[in-house]
Amino acid sequence: MKNLKIEIKNKICIISINRLKNLNAINLNLLVDLKKALFQYQDSKEIRTIILTGEGNQAFIAGADIKSMSKMNSQEAYDFSKLGNDITLMMDKYPKPIIAAINGYALGGGCELAMACHIRFASENTIIGQPETGLGLIPGFGGTQRLPRIVGLTNAYKLLLSGSPIDALEAKRIGLVSDIFNQSELIEKTIKFAEKINKNSPSSSKIIIEVVNKGIHLDLKEALNIESQYFKKVFENENKNIGIKSFLDKTKPDFID
Ligand code: CAA
Repeated sequence: MKNLKIEIKNKICIISINRLKNLNAINLNLLVDLKKALFQYQDSKEIRTIILTGEGNQAFIAGADIKSMSKMNSQEAYDFSKLGNDITLMMDKYPKPIIAAINGYALGGGCELAMACHIRFASENTIIGQPETGLGLIPGFGGTQRLPRIVGLTNAYKLLLSGSPIDALEAKRIGLVSDIFNQSELIEKTIKFAEKINKNSPSSSKIIIEVVNKGIHLDLKEALNIESQYFKKVFENENKNIGIKSFLDKTKPDFID
């Protein structure tokens, strides 16, 4: 795909946003490609974990493409935002873990796509935020909604209303990213983490993502009831037999996809 570089190795799929000259800014074609790739891999037995990153060592994604937005009318802007939000919703509930390896600027739509990933690692040179207000815009791929859910209202309003991005340390402090690595080690460390995930039961990963998404906005009692139902469901899954038997036999589990 023109706008994405995709590598698959050892059941890890690395999707790199590939518009280097524009600091990986997102245009409509790129969104279409990303949606296609996510659809293509969601049921693939060849992949257990996805890593989303940006080409080069300057930017993860420097936001939505401002040049292409300059030509949009309001209906086209709605369609662009709707497609972006459809993709982020798909990512929230994706049946395989998605890790953002944020390797530099993650601004506007870049911060928003990172927030739709299940896990976020950042390089030391990361600059992340929602600068849309400075362009007379607002976030369009979920920033007004996921940012407060991830970092709380106080931190979210600070980022959304000032438009001022923050560095990796501050992003870690407020819980926007979980870990910081050297730029040169980011992908290697992210792959190591993906390998850790891949040793576990893929059906458990899938169900965890499903249960978290189902329960997160419910009251605790209702959400815990959902957890119990899914706990029952995993007992009907062959990977539970494989995992428990391996523990008892002191062997390594070989889970099925
Ligand atoms: N859209 C289009 N092109 C972009 C871009 C963007 N978001 N960000 C960078 N580029 C392009 C630049 O125009 C430049 O291209 P030219 O060489 O053809 O001029 C090239 O990438 C390199 O950028 P700079 O020369 O600006 O690089 P820099 O190192 O001096 O600055 C930067 C880097 C701070 C990231 C700066 O490029 C910048 O501020 N970019 C815009 C960031 C932004 O505002 N993002 C939010 C967009 S709105 C949005 O995302 C809405 C939404 O929620 C959906």
